[in-house]
Amino acid sequence: VIPPGDIRRISGHIGAEIANIRLSGDLPEPVIRALYALLLKHKVLFFRDQTHLDDATHEAFGARFGAPVAHPTQGSLKGSASILDLDTRRSGAREAGQAGGARADQWHTDVTFVEAYPKISILRALVVPEFGGDTVWANTVAAYERLPAPLKLLADNLWAVHSNAYDYAAVRPHATEEERREFEKTFTRTVYETEHPVVRVLETGERTLLLGNFAQRFVGVSRADSARLFQLFQDHITAQEVTVRWRWRAGDVALWDNRATQHYAVNDYGDQHRVVRRVTIEGDVPTAIDG
Ligand code: SIN
Repeated sequence: VIPPGDIRRISGHIGAEIANIRLSGDLPEPVIRALYALLLKHKVLFFRDQTHLDDATHEAFGARFGAPVAHPTQGSLKGSASILDLDTRRSGAREAGQAGGARADQWHTDVTFVEAYPKISILRALVVPEFGGDTVWANTVAAYERLPAPLKLLADNLWAVHSNAYDYAAVRPHATEEERREFEKTFTRTVYETEHPVVRVLETGERTLLLGNFAQRFVGVSRADSARLFQLFQDHITAQEVTVRWRWRAGDVALWDNRATQHYAVNDYGDQHRVVRRVTIEGDVPTAIDG
């Protein structure tokens, strides 16, 4: 249903742009199934020129892949059930816990600090800076596959504790005391801690590395060794070869498999305005390699 000519791969291991499609809540089922199959293959799909979408149709499109879920601690956009508004200028952005002005400039998989973290995220760009503000995604399946055998074995045997109460000061050394307090008051107003296997088995049978910024330490490993091990695996995950970088235009939509990727919003646009909105779709508890 989606002609091969409308699918343009962007990099060697991740990302495809899909042309000639108008996203909506009432796309025919075969189209949704085809998009899902493409998502499993390419991990992140991009759609240009979706300026017709509003919050309701964005959510309705998302709902075709499962139930939209609100962020567990950050409020949803007024009038919507689940939309996360990431607006660098929205008054109250900081109060809503989007410290640093709603900039997701850390490598992460969305909301891994809960047990059944989102399966899919759908991000829509409303206002983009004149320059900068790209987002980069990494394919965590390809990262696992490219590991040398002894490191695969090590990853296979590790579990990690994920929490929203991460070391904010370490991630944002320039944050003011006020920003740090706001982070604690809002983003971590309920503290979650969840253990996940470092290697998750997907419905395709593929193995994916499940880490990112919310991973705090490995189970049974000291904090010092955890930090070293974490960096070792993160360096493989964020290797340029398994990433794709997207230069946003207003009206673009990115749809990603949140179980098979990490992403990073590049914070290089100073005080220019940037607004993106995200819908996340309910996921399930990860399956480890031993079931
Ligand atoms: C996110 O982390 O979901 C937002 C990414 C972005 O702002 O580009």
